[in-house]
Amino acid sequence: MINNFLAKTDWRRPVIHLICALPAIWLGHQMWLWYSFAPHQLSANPIEYITDFTGGWTVRFLLITLTITPLAKLTKWRMLKYRRAVGLYAFFYALLHFLNYMVLDYFFDWELIIEDIFKRPAITFGMLAFTMLIPLAVTSFKFMMKKMGKNWQKLHQTLYTLTIFAIIHNYMMVKADVLIPLIHAMILSVLLGYRVYLNYKKRKIRSKNQIA
Ligand code: HEM
Repeated sequence: MINNFLAKTDWRRPVIHLICALPAIWLGHQMWLWYSFAPHQLSANPIEYITDFTGGWTVRFLLITLTITPLAKLTKWRMLKYRRAVGLYAFFYALLHFLNYMVLDYFFDWELIIEDIFKRPAITFGMLAFTMLIPLAVTSFKFMMKKMGKNWQKLHQTLYTLTIFAIIHNYMMVKADVLIPLIHAMILSVLLGYRVYLNYKKRKIRSKNQIA
């Protein structure tokens, strides 16, 4: 009976959720230590640290989400069913990033926030990326997928564009070393290149079929 249960249960899903949630759990613990005046690892400037930490994980999860499809195609591993969950973690970390900026950094000072969004190009790119993520998160559920049909795929292809905006924001925001955003940009270029190659192959097969 236990064997039957284990065979039917997808144990990978909770493991993936746990791994994706680990950075947030660690951050929550460190914030609790900071709040309790106990030694913590959020540096001398915890608010800045939290912004960089959540922003960094947002970019990582965006890139991991985009990597799942090519990796599944190349390795034939059945991992596409986890793409949605990983993508939602990108949104979750982006939301934490934005909330930290809005609540802890700017303390709901809307005038300053709006001025920041329109006057600092780096923040404009970050806001663009975050705003574009919202419809993707809202429509990520199966019933929306069915309801939207082909439009769902079109909408979810904007993930590439918003990741470009996110990396530009990351590049402009970084204080010390631009190496990390440059590595992110290189990974994204490879993923985009693969996508263009797949589209080209698909179009070639379609035109061959039409001639035949
Ligand atoms: C998908 C959306 C976003 C991603 C992926 C992202 C990513 C990042 C990353 C990786 C950093 C760290 C840069 C470093 O290493 O120093 C960062 C910094 C920052 N981000 Fe974002 N960001 C996003 C959206 C936003 C939004 C919407 C805002 C505010 C409206 C924002 C405000 C900031 C600020 C103020 C910093 C600098 C924090 C500091 O003082 O060090 N970001 N972001």
